[in-house]
Amino acid sequence: MKNMQEPWERPIGIFDSGVGGLTVVKEIMKLLPFEAIIYFGDTARVPYGTKSKETITRFAMEDAAFLLKKNVKAIVVACNSVSSNSLEYLKSSFDIPIIGVIEPGALYACKKTRNKKIGITGTAATIESGAYEYSIREICPEAVVYSKSCPLFVPLAEEGWIEKESTFFIARDYLQELLDKDIDTLLLGCTHYPILKQVIQKVVGKGIFLIDSAYFTSIALKELLEENNLLRKSTAIIEPLFFLSDIPRRFSEIGERFLGKRIKKISVVDVTKQT
Ligand code: DGL
Repeated sequence: MKNMQEPWERPIGIFDSGVGGLTVVKEIMKLLPFEAIIYFGDTARVPYGTKSKETITRFAMEDAAFLLKKNVKAIVVACNSVSSNSLEYLKSSFDIPIIGVIEPGALYACKKTRNKKIGITGTAATIESGAYEYSIREICPEAVVYSKSCPLFVPLAEEGWIEKESTFFIARDYLQELLDKDIDTLLLGCTHYPILKQVIQKVVGKGIFLIDSAYFTSIALKELLEENNLLRKSTAIIEPLFFLSDIPRRFSEIGERFLGKRIKKISVVDVTKQT
């Protein structure tokens, strides 16, 4: 137990507006199997992607404060809507390393594109923030970015409508205007979208490279932990802890789809009532 006091032995806090962040947890568990993880999904207040910057930031502050109380050593903002609207505010408010999902995805999009035409998909909050464009232009000033919010992708992913023809048609409706711009790289700028990766790839064709920021966020997290000497030294596996603000109907089925395995135990918390 004494080990738990060492900074590197402490857990990583990961939060999202709901279940989407589990796609990020899945990648982190694969890359950093010895890390202890505490996940919070704000399922009672999801979606964030349709809300104002002020509300998203207020919710995000409560989510992060809850994780801080669990003594986490770093926080991963596994939500594009929060990362694009509130990351700087979170970073300036808390004294531990905090990373979001925007920069890792933007960095990789810049590495992959050949013709410098990059498409971005995401929630309205993410797209309207312009955060991906900003990040991409910082890394690759000559890139041209085309954005499209795809709000129906979130419920489709939660419903598990992965192989339905209707999902294919909706995806085509959303993505055609990006395809008309001759993009060669498409960023899936929402934690739900990796669930629909196959159907999206089918719509855009094999020539377009899809960027799933979940995977690249796990790589960025590893680098961040290394830089701060916070990689866990013990090799005993610790089961992740899952906290939600509500247990939605059919959660076990939805959670399993996003995490890739069954979630055995969930605790319900009200992060608005912290003392
Ligand atoms: N997790 C959110 C995101 O990545 C999608 C769901 C929501 O709108 O809250 O933007």
